[in-house]
Amino acid sequence: MRFSRVLVTGGAGFIGSHLVERLLEAGIDTVVLDDLSVGKRENVPTNATFIEGDVRDPHAVSAAMSGVQGVFHLAARVSIRASVEGFYGDAETNLMGTLNVLRCCATARVNKLVYASSMAVYADSPRPVPIPESYDTVPLSPYGVAKLACERYVRLVATQAGFQSVALRYFNTYGPRQTFTPYVGVITIFIRRLFLGEAPVIYGDGEQCRDFVYVGDVANATLLAMQSDVSGEVLNVGSGAGTTVNRIATLLCHRLDPTIRPQHVAEHAGEVRNSIADIRKAQRLLHYDPQERLEDRIDEIIAWNRQTSPEAGRGGQE
Ligand SMILES: NC(=O)c1ccc[n+]([C@@H]2O[C@H](COP(=O)([O-])OP(=O)(O)OC[C@H]3O[C@@H](n4cnc5c(N)ncnc54)[C@H](O)[C@@H]3O)[C@@H](O)[C@H]2O)c1
Repeated sequence: MRFSRVLVTGGAGFIGSHLVERLLEAGIDTVVLDDLSVGKRENVPTNATFIEGDVRDPHAVSAAMSGVQGVFHLAARVSIRASVEGFYGDAETNLMGTLNVLRCCATARVNKLVYASSMAVYADSPRPVPIPESYDTVPLSPYGVAKLACERYVRLVATQAGFQSVALRYFNTYGPRQTFTPYVGVITIFIRRLFLGEAPVIYGDGEQCRDFVYVGDVANATLLAMQSDVSGEVLNVGSGAGTTVNRIATLLCHRLDPTIRPQHVAEHAGEVRNSIADIRKAQRLLHYDPQERLEDRIDEIIAWNRQTSPEAGRGGQE
């Protein structure tokens, strides 16, 4: 499918801004709608059209969709913990904001919507390793409930309104411009502790495994989902490989301060043991082929955190 103009909601955020770069590189005219609640204006390349606005606002979304053939809906409040503390606020943006985007897609007669869902839709242990898309969906958080509901709304409304849709379940995405909150991104959290000369804190034995996928690979998968003729599908987007929290801590201590040893504390009750994406469906349908290994990207992530973190320079060494 060919697109000359697309909209990226949440395009001033972490994953969205990398996607915008890919789209512009591909010569696609790109509009960004973001309320800058988390994202930054400087994340958006100057050759994209930027509109500051809220995905819950029908006028802002309709205006942003003018003349676009494809919509990437990434804008969201991205915190599982915050959703537990305030499920209503989470649903206002993540559920109602998505329904507003869907409603506007139907009116604007776009050709396709790609929706950013999450691994947070999956049921707890015992999880298969890796997790296929067919695995049980019993979200453990309001954030996951809203993501799952939106996947279903997206497919239903798109089918009824006659446009294509794909939902992508992103796994733990890492890379430059990752938003720093205490709840997001163990890699960033460990780096910033090490900048302060403090030990990374590992809950439990550290052998819990996560699928860390580089943001450039996620952006590629998202672009492929738009360009392919695949529709009505839900696809995992990860690296397909697991990395233990111990491995990440060792890698970062080695790079930043080999004298520091990670500190183990009691495990978090209910923490998922393994969360690794089965990516064979995305490989088959989208020809998705993740290229990046954490070991090869770690210096880039450290350098980016060094530039942007207030903790950098106050402690630690390289
Ligand atoms: N980062 C991950 O590991 C991960 C994993 C699974 C799913 N996801 C999903 O991917 C998408 C992008 O996540 P991210 O990591 O880039 O997060 P992010 O917070 O960096 O980006 C989200 C963007 O949405 C914007 N936004 C929030 N509320 C808005 C509103 N009401 N109106 C307009 N804009 C609004 C924010 O300002 C921000 O720029 C989200 O939908 C998230 O749920 C991310």
